[in-house]
Amino acid sequence: MKKFIAVLSVVVILASLCCACGKKGDDSAEKVKVIDIALSEEEYAFCVNKEDPELLTKVNEYLKKIKEDGTFDKICNNYFGDGTPNKVASAKKDAAKDQLVVATSTGFEPFEMVENGKFFGIDLEIAAGLAEYLGKELVIEDMQFEAVVTSVQQGLCDIGMAGLTITPARQEVVTFSDSYYSANQNLVVPGDCTDFDKCKTKEDVEKILKGKKDAKIGCQRGTTGAIYIDGDADDPDGYGFEGLPATKMEYDYAALAFTAMINGEVDYVIVDDAPANAIAKAINAN
Ligand code: ARG
Repeated sequence: MKKFIAVLSVVVILASLCCACGKKGDDSAEKVKVIDIALSEEEYAFCVNKEDPELLTKVNEYLKKIKEDGTFDKICNNYFGDGTPNKVASAKKDAAKDQLVVATSTGFEPFEMVENGKFFGIDLEIAAGLAEYLGKELVIEDMQFEAVVTSVQQGLCDIGMAGLTITPARQEVVTFSDSYYSANQNLVVPGDCTDFDKCKTKEDVEKILKGKKDAKIGCQRGTTGAIYIDGDADDPDGYGFEGLPATKMEYDYAALAFTAMINGEVDYVIVDDAPANAIAKAINAN
């Protein structure tokens, strides 16, 4: 009997703890939640045409300079810290002028954004400085993410600056600069989902995800998040991602995958960590 009462009281305590948690969740009414565990390790770099080693040298020179003189940290602080983002102006593409034509894909905060036709973001502030360093006029060409690498490969743009992860497949068609930022994939879940609350490691998260065979997971089309879901373990040059049994749902923009999750069309989203946090913050603030 004593044992029974002891067990019962533990159950009651646990139940009340759960209620307290649930209540807290309701009060803050978070729509989405980022599980802060790195599912991959990636390096962002800029990409240039394979036939343009001169630009590559200059880009690496510029990256080294801004890393050393504090400019890079200052730009990051405009987005991650207490600084103020700077708007970046783009000229019209004109073959007769000496321009730096940048391929990007906005909607990937804090790296590239556009608001009322005005560009900003970490990559685009770096682009502005790079154009000045090269003595060229900056042109920003905003396109779907999948087109970024192709447009540089085809020589339509000089450089891809788009939170772009260095991958072996991309290295086959373009050349990457030195890396400037370390990133990883994060899982994003609906605010009331508690499935991953106890997870501490990537293995904990993946164990649960591997059991969710009927799940739908949203991601941005053509990204490393999509590769993570598909898996590339049989590709000798791949990341070695094992892949997930879930159904992959691709969207043109990361934020559209979040909307799909809020509307119940997908169960989770997998996206790069910084955009995951920035998009979740914006959604939860509304
Ligand atoms: N880092 C990921 C990749 O390279 C996602 C990049 C998405 N970038 C963007 N501007 N939408 O695949």
